[in-house]
Amino acid sequence: MIECKWLQMILCCLIVIDAFDRVQFVFIPKRKWLPMPYTEKKIDHTLVDRETINAFVKRLAEEISRDFSGKELYFICVLKGSFMFMADLVREIDLPCEVDFMSVKSYEGEKSTGVVKINKDLDRSIAGKHVLIVEDIVDTGLTLNHLKALLSTRNPASISIVTAFDKPMRRRVDIHVDYVGMEIPNEFIVGYGLDLDGFYRNLPEVVVLSDKE
Ligand code: IMP
Repeated sequence: MIECKWLQMILCCLIVIDAFDRVQFVFIPKRKWLPMPYTEKKIDHTLVDRETINAFVKRLAEEISRDFSGKELYFICVLKGSFMFMADLVREIDLPCEVDFMSVKSYEGEKSTGVVKINKDLDRSIAGKHVLIVEDIVDTGLTLNHLKALLSTRNPASISIVTAFDKPMRRRVDIHVDYVGMEIPNEFIVGYGLDLDGFYRNLPEVVVLSDKE
């Protein structure tokens, strides 16, 4: 008898939860019940337009194709910021190449934590291969410094770094970047793969966001 009462209570609870969920789904836009992760910010100005991006991608691809002539390349896209740059770059490369993806994290919002965590490692061995690490932006250099040291232990034939953007003024470690698309001033940029808390990656150009919301 007692067990039966418990079962009835559980059943009632389930019905109430289900009803609440249906009401929410039908009458109330669900987003209002959740913390909003996206705070829209206005674009202050465009820092790098499409033409400039296309031009430096072409130039970098030509330099790399010339420097590694007769060799095979292993491109490593550092996720997520480099996905657009990597896609544009490899399309212009005139050599046999493989692509792989690695995910490392060193930023929370606009601040570097100084700690680099590997979320996704490479799928294949890089031993004996000519590796090109493709970055979206080099800022303090901490991420790349750590990544290059780690990948060097896997015995590649060579490791080079190619980045779309470089903020040399912000450097905290001495790291050599072999191929730089463009140097930029000390500003936080988004677009062309670069994000602020996960958003704005889809913008085709590189912009600086306004402080005002
Ligand atoms: P670093 O370790 O300080 O060189 O930072 C490299 C990583 O920080 C990049 O791969 C980006 O993901 C992120 N980052 C640095 N500066 C910016 C920026 O201006 N906009 C967006 N992401 C940035």
